[in-house]
Amino acid sequence: MASLQPARGTHDLLPEDFRRHARVIDIARETASLYGFAPIATPIFEFTEVFQRTLGDTSDIVTKEMYTFTDKGGEQVTLRPEGTAGVARALISNGLSQHLPLKYFYAGPMFRYERPQKGRYRQFHQLGAEALGYAGPDVDAELILMSARLWRALGLDGLRLELNSLGTAASRQAYRALLVEYFGDHRASLDEDSQRRLGQNPLRILDSKNPEMQALIAGAPSLTDHLDEESAAHFAQLRATLEAAGVDYRVNPRLVRGLDYYSRTVFEWLTDRLGAQAAVCSGGRYDGLVEQLGGRPTPAIGWALGMERLVELVQDSAPPPPAPHAYLVPLGGAAEQAALALAEALRDELGELRLVTHCGGGSLKSAMKKADRSGAELALILGEEELRQGVVVVKPLRREGEQQGMERGALVGRLRECIQARRA
Ligand code: HAM
Repeated sequence: MASLQPARGTHDLLPEDFRRHARVIDIARETASLYGFAPIATPIFEFTEVFQRTLGDTSDIVTKEMYTFTDKGGEQVTLRPEGTAGVARALISNGLSQHLPLKYFYAGPMFRYERPQKGRYRQFHQLGAEALGYAGPDVDAELILMSARLWRALGLDGLRLELNSLGTAASRQAYRALLVEYFGDHRASLDEDSQRRLGQNPLRILDSKNPEMQALIAGAPSLTDHLDEESAAHFAQLRATLEAAGVDYRVNPRLVRGLDYYSRTVFEWLTDRLGAQAAVCSGGRYDGLVEQLGGRPTPAIGWALGMERLVELVQDSAPPPPAPHAYLVPLGGAAEQAALALAEALRDELGELRLVTHCGGGSLKSAMKKADRSGAELALILGEEELRQGVVVVKPLRREGEQQGMERGALVGRLRECIQARRA
């Protein structure tokens, strides 16, 4: 342990960040449920094979970024770098194929050993939506429309949509051969990464961010011109549906995505506000993935958004947590015991009551300071004398008014008024 810092590329979600995340998750879950997506949670780690078989042997994620280890039972497991493979595995493991089509929504942490920078972490959070058993392109369009609705619900504008079609595995194979020929002819101009990719996954050269490679890439044969007929028709229909629904997009023939399981539709929502980490939400069709894992052929499409990137864009809008209605201050040992029992009884009786009990003793003065700082409407003071008399002293903290000893019935009535007033 180098120091008491979180491990590189990880971060704590302190309450304010947590509230921002929770708000986005709530709105996204609500939006997804309006489209018939049901919540699902898969394990944070899976057998390594689940990812190895699906994400691509030569993908950056599998070759460089997975947190893989052998557990005490000798099993090779991996912290999930993304959510789609786990959802496909869950479909098969739970025999859900007979209930297709299915729509799932998930949220949770993902792990990639990347070089951390703003918007790029080793533990990050994704929200994802997967529609399984749909051949599209109607569902492709609907998933994109759902994400656009989510941006509106979050008050987010300025995201750009880029689309491409990767065709089927067979048409991509033919295109791959053209690319190998083209880049092979220009081998001397390829950077080190691209030279490596030429042998393994030449499509990923198109994804290079190296400015010196851009002219060469611009001259490469375009995937769009080499789509098989069915994929071209699928893509044309998707585009027409998006246009009919008024969604702006740009076709980016260089958009290939970093995971190997995609076929046909791929898309990304991009922002100019986060520097190099421009992709806020990415996804596409993965018609072969379930079969690759040993299931039946299952056409499917989905997307996932990066919470840290999205939350950065909707910075300002997490409402503060509601203040407590009351802050209960016990004075002395006997009162402390009685106070906790009283607090529980009040919570039982008044389901919505937000009540903070002063724990840790100290003087009345410092307890009252804390009561005030909590934002509570009322301080409830319980000393030895009050215990004997069967009352609690109620002191208004936010407005003028005398403090008053109240018996249990009157106290409940006063708290009920306070709850109602705060609700209004
Ligand atoms: P992905 O493009 O690898 O796709 O990740 C989706 C989103 O997660 C990205 O657009 C980005 O916002 C966020 N993200 C990725 N890596 C990081 C990181 N290191 N730090 C912070 N945010 C990050 C997938 O994961 C696919 N499973 C998406 C999908 C679902 N395709 C079909 N269904």
